[in-house]
Amino acid sequence: MGRGAYEHNYTRLNLPELEAQTIDAAPLAIALPPELAGQGPATVDLYCAENLALLEAQAAKWAARCQLLYIDPPFGSGKVYSARVEGARGRQSQAVKAYRDDQDFDGYLAWLYRRLVFARDLLCPSGTLYVHLDWHAVHYVKVELDRLFGRERFLNEIIWCYYGPSPIRSAFKRKHDNILVYTRSPAYYFDADAVRMPYNESTVRTFQSSRKAGFGKVPDLARGKVPEDWWYMPVVARQHGERVGYETQKPESLLERIVKASSRPGDLVGDLFAGTGTTGVVAARLSRNALLADRNPVGVEKALLRLARLEPAPHVRLWRYLTPEMNGSPPAGG
Ligand SMILES: C[S@@+](CC[C@H](N)C(=O)[O-])C[C@H]1O[C@@H](n2cnc3c(N)ncnc32)[C@H](O)[C@@H]1O
Repeated sequence: MGRGAYEHNYTRLNLPELEAQTIDAAPLAIALPPELAGQGPATVDLYCAENLALLEAQAAKWAARCQLLYIDPPFGSGKVYSARVEGARGRQSQAVKAYRDDQDFDGYLAWLYRRLVFARDLLCPSGTLYVHLDWHAVHYVKVELDRLFGRERFLNEIIWCYYGPSPIRSAFKRKHDNILVYTRSPAYYFDADAVRMPYNESTVRTFQSSRKAGFGKVPDLARGKVPEDWWYMPVVARQHGERVGYETQKPESLLERIVKASSRPGDLVGDLFAGTGTTGVVAARLSRNALLADRNPVGVEKALLRLARLEPAPHVRLWRYLTPEMNGSPPAGG
């Protein structure tokens, strides 16, 4: 897609269908102009929907379909998050409320658990679930996921580290997120070779300088290493082209490693808290299909624009599923 109306980072399409007053009995397909619908080989189903209502409606149809599910829900932070959208008639972009994360904590845990149960059932037998959280809830959710999947299905806790400013003076700066990884069965898919990375220069120097280095094993320096379970990757900052004006947008590099490790081309990758569609963008670029859902029309529109800019742009099917839960803020534990 060339430069034009949809190129601006903060553009809001304002698709009226996404905010209609009516309630839908079933997911409704919204016709898209060809420049947004794309024709590429990957297919992305993008739902503007409250995910629990959507999952309840589609559970039987979608059971065991996903090879990979990445979910990045609200963290139980007590905050309200914003997005930037284009001002009216070309005026400066402005901040609008994107989503609330201010339920009471017990209500939040019950709310998330109901969605995790459905998430597990979407996975195919070789599938993997990644749940992205931080210090607020990760330890509580780890216990719930252990019960849901079985402790032996826990694969990793990935620590995503980053730098950034913080006003904190009474504790260490909180600069990492936690991603809990569970597999549906012992016969899960994991492609270590797809995510190998170069050894650190100091490691290479050490092994090249001494035959006695290491613990008796000389690594294959040319092949590279399987990454550790802690990843340094920068947050999406102002200077990054991928930034689209959504407070909790995740970096494409993070999703790239997850998608490459836990799915193959042609597989279905799901994200039930899709926000600006980072998972779908990366999945489509890597020739995977995607199933995305988010209740916030601003996030859905931004996802749509990001997908339309890919080359080749995936074939996007946009769906609306407006339910009573989507009027106003989510009820506690709803
Ligand atoms: C942390 S953000 C996801 C950001 C996303 N990973 C990205 O890179 O843009 C969480 C998202 O969950 C969505 N959300 C919260 N509750 C939801 C619900 N019940 N159903 C669907 N989406 C929900 C919010 O609208 C928000 O976009």
